[in-house]
Amino acid sequence: MTADISSPLALPCGATLKNRLAKGAMTEGLGDARNRATDAHVRLYRRWAEGGAGMLLTGNVQVDRRYMERPGNVAIDGEQSNEAIAALREFAKAGTANGAHLWMQISHAGRQTPALVNKEPVAPSAKPLDMPGAQFGTPRAMTGGEIEDVIRRFAHAASVARDTGFTGVQIHGAHGYLISEFLSPDVNVRTDEWGGSLENRARLLLEVVRAVRAAVGSDFPVSVKLNSADFQRGGFSHEDAIRVATWLNAEGLDLLEVSGGTYEQPRLVGMDDMTLHPEKSEVRRESTIAREAYFLEYAKDIRAAVTMPLMVTGGFRTVEGMNAALASGTMDVVGIARPLCVDPGIPGKLLSGAAKETPAYEKTLRLGPGFLGPHSPVNLIKALNGWGQQGWFCLQLLRMGAGKDPDPKMGVFSAFRNYAKNEAKTAAALER
Ligand SMILES: Cc1cc2nc3c(=O)[nH]c(=O)nc-3n(C[C@H](O)[C@H](O)[C@H](O)COP(=O)(O)O)c2cc1C
Repeated sequence: MTADISSPLALPCGATLKNRLAKGAMTEGLGDARNRATDAHVRLYRRWAEGGAGMLLTGNVQVDRRYMERPGNVAIDGEQSNEAIAALREFAKAGTANGAHLWMQISHAGRQTPALVNKEPVAPSAKPLDMPGAQFGTPRAMTGGEIEDVIRRFAHAASVARDTGFTGVQIHGAHGYLISEFLSPDVNVRTDEWGGSLENRARLLLEVVRAVRAAVGSDFPVSVKLNSADFQRGGFSHEDAIRVATWLNAEGLDLLEVSGGTYEQPRLVGMDDMTLHPEKSEVRRESTIAREAYFLEYAKDIRAAVTMPLMVTGGFRTVEGMNAALASGTMDVVGIARPLCVDPGIPGKLLSGAAKETPAYEKTLRLGPGFLGPHSPVNLIKALNGWGQQGWFCLQLLRMGAGKDPDPKMGVFSAFRNYAKNEAKTAAALER
């Protein structure tokens, strides 16, 4: 029988998703000064759970408070206080309403830790991001002992997720954060067992997967988000991604989510080069540029090599496109992220037929003054636009966390300013 967006999906661990629509992970920035979950998470996730998706992925929850991707992240770092556990339980309860699965995405930001959080981040090697501005410090290369510690931290966070009522975990292995940095020969120039060959570069990811599986048991969904490629010359290639996917398949993963890109090459949101050296950017396959789901071509190659369920996230906007992708057999779960910042109830509308596509917010973002389009030459304006757009979506989540409706008319430049202010304020309030 051909699957469509309303078909349930049985996962290898025995859990079942009630339909094929999943909310992609989106950083919320709603943690408190000690990076605990808050009532704002409860409000936001209840709304999303009621929105009808079969599965919700949380924004990345950090395994080390020193190396977070935002000052407002939730972090599970060491022994959790009773208050922190109680807050996670409330979060999990809200996000699993209406039969939704709620999977915690666990992550370590590596060199993409903003200077607001830590001026000296860690990474596989001491290679800084190649981006304009001074938002990120030069990282320090991790010691072997620190790498072992990171593996234990992922396992600990996963067991806390299970104990507090989350119904699955996803290990963030994509987008240029720590695990993805280890995978990249451009960022990871180590000469020990954690660098060099692809086997060595993938060791951290595979060790984390094994430690997490051991921590949560065989009947609990474990997922990985992996780049189909980094799109940076000399970086983690599509061929590397296919090989790593086959190794993950052998680990008995429940769901592999296919994405792509990094802060330098933000293809995850359909944008290209943000570096100071655009000649290092790899051109996308032509066929994927025009397509609705821009990683689908890449997922096809992964599908040919693995049997585990696949989720593809990035650009899905129409029921027709989603159903065609599912019917093709290339993938099993449709990831949708940005549209859920504008209409948290959109999955239910797509499932019932009340809507045929997601709301068109793109116009607001493209009409902002000075917007140069996704293929303009790299410069500061482009970086401002990129961060402004990211800020636009993040501010919508803050609104919903505060119990308000999204504001699709928000300007992209005021979003840039207000987002920057919010981040600075949150960082200043952190109890270190
Ligand atoms: C505001 C925002 C925050 C995001 N945060 C995360 C995150 O925490 N973890 C992650 O894996 N991806 C994150 N992403 C990427 C999304 O999960 C998704 O891959 C991307 O937005 C493409 O899907 P879409 O076209 O449906 O939006 C984020 C995207 C946006 C717009």
